[in-house]
Amino acid sequence: MKKILVTGGAGFIGSHTVIELVGRGFIPVIADNFSNSDRRVTDGLTSILGHRPETVMIDCTDSGAMERLFADHGFHAVIHFAAFKAVGESVTDPLRYYRNNLLTTQVVLECMRTYGVRHLVFSSSCTVYGQPDSLPVTEQSPLKPPVSPYGYTKQVCEHMVCDFVSAEPGFSAGLLRYFNPVGAHPSGLNGELPYGVPSNLVPFITQTAAGLRPALTIFGSDYATPDGTCIRDYIHVTDLAGAHVRALDWLEANPGKCEAFNLGQGRGHSVKEVIDTFERVTGQHVPVVMGPRRAGDVEQIWAEVTKANRALNWHTELGLEVALADAWRWQQYVNTLPAP
Ligand code: WQD
Repeated sequence: MKKILVTGGAGFIGSHTVIELVGRGFIPVIADNFSNSDRRVTDGLTSILGHRPETVMIDCTDSGAMERLFADHGFHAVIHFAAFKAVGESVTDPLRYYRNNLLTTQVVLECMRTYGVRHLVFSSSCTVYGQPDSLPVTEQSPLKPPVSPYGYTKQVCEHMVCDFVSAEPGFSAGLLRYFNPVGAHPSGLNGELPYGVPSNLVPFITQTAAGLRPALTIFGSDYATPDGTCIRDYIHVTDLAGAHVRALDWLEANPGKCEAFNLGQGRGHSVKEVIDTFERVTGQHVPVVMGPRRAGDVEQIWAEVTKANRALNWHTELGLEVALADAWRWQQYVNTLPAP
């Protein structure tokens, strides 16, 4: 059985990937400092998996601790999620984003080199494209200047990873460019547990529908889109997690390669369309108010995903409606949990 280090494995996408890894016979080891994830996630994973996945509380910027972790485990590969990821927050606190997102990646690569761990799945983002000139974006679309420090950290890390692979014979890396991950595990026992006020749209919708927030503010209704609100490509988190496991197969078969893959649904939905779909699917009402644009937002972006379809033999199976229904089920479950 192959051990996979999952940094940030208690996070939203990381925890769903842990479930998919176990389903494929891998042994995930979660490394997380819980700075941006909730410890209760491992309880939910235990319920789903029937055992508690090995979890190590560690700061991935701590090179000494990470060296010891690698020495203890003999990992087959690394899936590196540990990073901050809120676009708006990165605008107000850029240094925190540059330090964390770049240094965790550098420490992981140095440890991989020291211990001969040759395969890396890197958690990247569609924000590396900036505001694209044409849509949908392909992996060959130009990486324009990102509109947020978060996007810049992902662009720099992609270069760091590929330069490393070029310099180290036998290594391989997949840069998975996520579009907008949404939803929750169909069991209703795992999902997004944002700290404090959610920065992302869907958890804010579900918390508003649950009465935890008085109203949802739509950030900008004067964009050059059909209904004036931003357009994104929303992908079910379970579909997204499955792509990570498929990427491990690709890495083994492609030593020396460092390639990007778009992971999205392959179509766009506006903010208003997401809200309307949520209300239709769940029967819940979401009070909204119109607000100003949010710094760091691109107007519209969605993915062309045939490269991942072909190279990873991966396709999405769950659409936006299922994702929103799963997100609502999860919100109702979270409301029953004791406070952290
Ligand atoms: C979506 C839309 C907001 C909240 C995310 C991740 C990022 C990356 C890309 C993985 C925007 C609007 C939001 C609210 C709103 N994914 N909105 N009111 O900014 O596209 O980025 O996906 O790496 O890590 O953060 O997602 O959900 O924050 O915003 O109107 O209360 O919803 O303006 O147009 P975003 P988001």
